[in-house]
Amino acid sequence: MALEFGRVAAPPSYAGIFDAYAKMRSMDSPTKSREIRLRSRPTGWPVPDNFELVEVPLPKPGDGEVLVRNTHMSVDPYMRGRMSDAPSYVPPFKLGEAIGGAAVGYVVASRAERLPLGTWLRHDRGWRDYAIVSASKAEPIDINLAPPSAFLGVLGMTGLTAYVGLHEIGGLKPSDVVFISSAADAVGSVAGQLAKLQGATTIGSAGSDEKVAYLKNELGFDAAFNYKDGNLSKRLRELAPGGIDLYFDNVGGEQLEAALSALNDYGRIVACGMISQYNEAAPAPRNLMNIVRKRLTMRGFIVFDHGSRATDFLRDVAPAVKTGKIKFPESFVDGLENAPQAFIDMLRGGKYVGKVVVRLADERNATKKTSAA
Ligand SMILES: NC(=O)c1ccc[n+]([C@@H]2O[C@H](COP(=O)([O-])OP(=O)(O)OC[C@H]3O[C@@H](n4cnc5c(N)ncnc54)[C@H](OP(=O)(O)O)[C@@H]3O)[C@@H](O)[C@H]2O)c1
Repeated sequence: MALEFGRVAAPPSYAGIFDAYAKMRSMDSPTKSREIRLRSRPTGWPVPDNFELVEVPLPKPGDGEVLVRNTHMSVDPYMRGRMSDAPSYVPPFKLGEAIGGAAVGYVVASRAERLPLGTWLRHDRGWRDYAIVSASKAEPIDINLAPPSAFLGVLGMTGLTAYVGLHEIGGLKPSDVVFISSAADAVGSVAGQLAKLQGATTIGSAGSDEKVAYLKNELGFDAAFNYKDGNLSKRLRELAPGGIDLYFDNVGGEQLEAALSALNDYGRIVACGMISQYNEAAPAPRNLMNIVRKRLTMRGFIVFDHGSRATDFLRDVAPAVKTGKIKFPESFVDGLENAPQAFIDMLRGGKYVGKVVVRLADERNATKKTSAA
């Protein structure tokens, strides 16, 4: 092949070769990590300027600790609440400090006997490339069941939320007609499939026609609609002429109002989340009197109170995930530096389907030899 003039690479200098060698060595034994800190508290919608990417020296594990190379981290709606300085069920993130949240990765340096090098873990020190994790807080994961990222979604907190919400809070029955909002995403996609496996009739809502098609064609929902088309009460009446028995609420606002109209006597509402209100005020339902008139039950819950159900959850759900009976849509964003934007886009909706996961490192590197602390 003829060389094109002007495109010939410059001859390598020895300095360049030494630089490249040093870089290769530092990739094998890194000396630095990066983390995302909360620079300022969002008012209304979060913006990239609320976050700061900072390089830090690679931390060393102490006794009973391990150093984990995070491969995936989760961005979740509840993190928005922790960015405000308001009292809640979890303390606010501190300004100027790395944000926390679920992550998975593998041990690259260990001072904890039960967690040797290469062990895969889930822990709560996401938003950073490398994390020091105390062995007492680490949760080993079995990546033969599902890929590591699944332990942040379908086999993680959001899957457990769907499981607890449907069964423990909602008292799901096979005869139920169940309506689930934000049905194509992390919690909703699992809730819909679990309800269907139980024999229930499922109706889902989502914010695009593509997601609606996905709900019906891939996730097995009996019916679905785009909430952005409006006329929510009318759509629910058309899709569930006999009314609904259980509403799994991820959204609040107008969809809650429509569900209150569509619910049958003695219907139940699982108040899982109200994402329409996390960054701006949403109109409250104007028909709360339905709760009285129809003798409805509305019950909220926080999944962190239900950790004791994790064993039952894995027993019931993991085999169905492994055999493909339960699908787990995931959307990946690459690079820690893109985590703030992924978080913002996840909150806004419309861009991703399923669980939003930030990929921090190639999981295949886990088989590479790693060093002792
Ligand atoms: N109670 C608990 O312990 C617990 C635990 C986990 C999660 N949650 C709650 O469960 C809900 C779902 O969480 P997730 O992790 O599964 O998040 P997610 O649904 O994966 O992601 C957010 C989705 O919310 C939808 N959305 C955003 N703004 C909306 C609006 N104004 N109206 C309707 N839909 C809107 C978007 O979907 P579209 O693209 O379709 O618009 C977006 O993709 C959240 O409210 C969360 O806070 C509660």
